[in-house]
Amino acid sequence: MKKVYMDYAATTPVDKEVIDEMIPYFDKYYGNASSIHSFGRDAFDAGEKSREQISGLLSANADEIIFTSGGTESDNLAIKGAAYLNKKKRDSKGYHIITSEIEHPAVLETCKYLEKQGFNVKYLPVDKYGLIKTKDLEDAISKNTLLITIIFANNEIGTIEPMEEIGKIAKKHDVIFHTDAVQAVGKVPIDVKKLNIDLLSLSSHKIYGPKGVGALYIRKGVKLQTIAHGGGHEKGLRSSTHNTPGIVGLGKACELGMNRLKKDAAHMKNLRDVLIKEILKVEESYLNGHPEKRLVNNAHFRFTAIEGESLNLMLDDKGIAGATGSACSSKKLQASHVLLAIGLKPEEAHGSLRLSLGRMSTKEDVSYVTEVLPEVVNNLRKMSPLWNR
Ligand SMILES: Cc1ncc(COP(=O)(O)O)c(C=O)c1O
Repeated sequence: MKKVYMDYAATTPVDKEVIDEMIPYFDKYYGNASSIHSFGRDAFDAGEKSREQISGLLSANADEIIFTSGGTESDNLAIKGAAYLNKKKRDSKGYHIITSEIEHPAVLETCKYLEKQGFNVKYLPVDKYGLIKTKDLEDAISKNTLLITIIFANNEIGTIEPMEEIGKIAKKHDVIFHTDAVQAVGKVPIDVKKLNIDLLSLSSHKIYGPKGVGALYIRKGVKLQTIAHGGGHEKGLRSSTHNTPGIVGLGKACELGMNRLKKDAAHMKNLRDVLIKEILKVEESYLNGHPEKRLVNNAHFRFTAIEGESLNLMLDDKGIAGATGSACSSKKLQASHVLLAIGLKPEEAHGSLRLSLGRMSTKEDVSYVTEVLPEVVNNLRKMSPLWNR
């Protein structure tokens, strides 16, 4: 049976060039990057090279990159780190954080946790496309606002938030601006300086690097409090022995991502546009998210009278891998908070399907999906009491 992977937003295969780069760091250059001997120095140098590669993709400086275990840890360190440190500088009331209703759980749950500790969090609503209104953001800022954390591009519906405007507002009010750019990196050109981003989270496994490694960009001068105490690695912000193979892989993935950005983006966009055009021919099918301000690899549909989980299972039977929500939360079988936030009814949210493309996707993949998916939707509808056309 043909197998088609259309879940690149959940994770990506590791690029062969990345694997080749990583391999010597398992058994040849295996030193501890903190050791002073030559084995240690080799590992240290590999880490510094990776910092250069990561910063290149973001137009940042190498010394503004901290290694972490992935997007989740980067988000936690950015948000808690900024909140705890800045709290000390304020008077005791009204520590305030602004975020949106459609953040990834790594941000939402961190904000909810901080609320329990007395922080005041404003969750900005979004419009039907998933965009925040910058006027709402400006109105929400007060003298107690410590941090703005808004996702760069949404992991479910692919909508890209107005980063430039958010950055300008944050700068004007002198508030730290963090963005979870896990889905945007490698698909959208990012210049942290131009966008006035102070903190940016990224994850290796979404950009053809290995799992379990990520980075946090911290603009020079922005201070954070550590959330994990230990040996003082990464300027005391993130203690733990370097995962050198992972760090090398992340660096190479970023270098490839930078060199291939235009090519990859054009490739994914071409395929995505065909996919969207063809799938929307299915009766009562709709696109979730913004028609233009969306990630080049994201196609997110909803189908009347369809249950997303059944649709996914039937597609899986035909060898097609898609998703109903974000991979990390889709097992919960709750209507997605993102889809509810854009105004969908729970039953509409449950009838949704995310197909996400990647560097390795092909025209044949798209043809197979556009051939199989309408048939699967029709078959499911025949069995559905909700579909009585
Ligand atoms: C937007 C976003 N943020 C954070 C994460 C978490 O990243 P990681 O799996 O590296 O912890 C993900 C992964 O699904 C994501 O899509």
